Amino acid sequence: MSWSNFVTNSKIGKKYANVQFNEKMHPEIRELGEKWIINPDKNLILQGSCGRGKTFFLYSLIKGFLERRCVYSGLGQMRFYKSNVLDDKLLVEQKLYGRNTQLIEDISDYKFLFIDDLGVEKPYDRTLTDLWNIIDQRMEKENITVFSTNLSDKSIEETYGNRIYSRFKEYQRIQFKGIDMRDL
Ligand SMILES: Nc1ncnc2c1ncn2[C@@H]1O[C@H](COP(=O)(O)OP(=O)(O)OP(=O)(O)O)[C@@H](O)[C@H]1O
Ligand SMILES: [Mg+2]
Repeated sequence: MSWSNFVTNSKIGKKYANVQFNEKMHPEIRELGEKWIINPDKNLILQGSCGRGKTFFLYSLIKGFLERRCVYSGLGQMRFYKSNVLDDKLLVEQKLYGRNTQLIEDISDYKFLFIDDLGVEKPYDRTLTDLWNIIDQRMEKENITVFSTNLSDKSIEETYGNRIYSRFKEYQRIQFKGIDMRDL
């Protein structure tokens, strides 16, 4: 998949079509992103308040990743979801078939999974169980996951419980600080 196909398929807003690692990013964060697309072997969690550039950075990762995908053999297996869209999909499957284990397995099998805005979905029991299953299975299979979220560590622990929080401790954290870039 090319980046332009990805933009169309994933219904990404026009304003993110030309994302790239740039000088508006904190140098350490930019460097980390540039290294990750060359060697995407770490689970990442992008944390920070609204407007700090997490989604912009996430799309920059995906763009760089897709542009270099020929480097990796056996790839071709990546997905991107807004967290609430993935949760709706899991709910629909559950309602239609009485269970969503196959969908969870499929999602766990993608070599790379990018999820934007973890925490916007409502934390019902089913949501938490599904999320835990996805995170746990993906770690077991050593597939790579990148999350972005507005939630702090404390909120993650409170919202998702210790079993999910504990697994996130194995992720590399990237803290997005500074001002709300939407105020500029
Ligand atoms: N590195 C960058 N270069 C240029 N514009 C940027 C950059 N990072 C962020 N922006 C712009 O700043 C605004 C906020 O960025 P973004 O949407 O990535 O924030 P966010 O952290 O995902 O916020 P939220 O938590 O509300 O989803 C957007 O308009 C985005 O285009
Ligand atoms: Mg965002």
